[in-house]
Amino acid sequence: MRRPIIAGNWKMYKTISEALEFVRLFKPLVVASTHCEIVIAPVFTSIKAVSDRLEGSNVAVAAQDVAPEPGPGAFTGEVSASMVKDAGARWAIIGHSERRQFFSETDESVSMKTRVALGEGLLPIVCVGERLEDRDAGRAESVVEAQLAGGMRNLTASEASRIIVAYEPVWAIGTGRTATPETAQQMHSFIRSRIRAMFGDSVGESIRVLYGGSVKPDNIAALMDQADIDGALVGGASLEAESFAQIVNYKERR
Ligand code: PGA
Repeated sequence: MRRPIIAGNWKMYKTISEALEFVRLFKPLVVASTHCEIVIAPVFTSIKAVSDRLEGSNVAVAAQDVAPEPGPGAFTGEVSASMVKDAGARWAIIGHSERRQFFSETDESVSMKTRVALGEGLLPIVCVGERLEDRDAGRAESVVEAQLAGGMRNLTASEASRIIVAYEPVWAIGTGRTATPETAQQMHSFIRSRIRAMFGDSVGESIRVLYGGSVKPDNIAALMDQADIDGALVGGASLEAESFAQIVNYKERR
């Protein structure tokens, strides 16, 4: 059985005090939610404060990125995997489409960051997803396949088994246009088949594949009903404690 994961990606939102106010409101709303792993990804500057406040709770913290180099070293502006771990993060989002689109992230850098994160014992959430023009041109699967092959290259099966994949179609992020559960399921099943081909049946069966892109309280349950959707990576709807808690508690909302 694959344990579901509901992860919130706060992007470049929330000061430290806003982040702590979220934690204060959110913790009691999910204190009894044992059916899934709960993760939030604040900006780097809030990781320490948020992790301290969540210590001993059922909510874990992710970084939104890590440096491609293990360091320490002369890499101005970068934050290493070991530093985010030192600050309290246990997970790391890697290769988000906004980093690919605006900050020159490539499959090569995704692969480097994934290796470094694994080396530090962080759980990497590796993001893949096609743009609208890829989907319209019938290239959705080949684009995702190339991102998986590039981002997970050179990993052993045991390393790959510690990765979480997030399928986030770029056309669904922040647009209010969620993939239908069927469209998402089709791609999730394809992703699982590619992982099976790359790392064997057992990794393919056990790896968790999250869906991301306009996940909201009212569409999470239908997405989670799909056989190969093992959780969600949530942007906008994770910024507010009440709505993110409703997503975490999707089982009660059927
Ligand atoms: P969204 O973002 O839920 O606001 O569409 C998802 C993401 O970018 O991870």
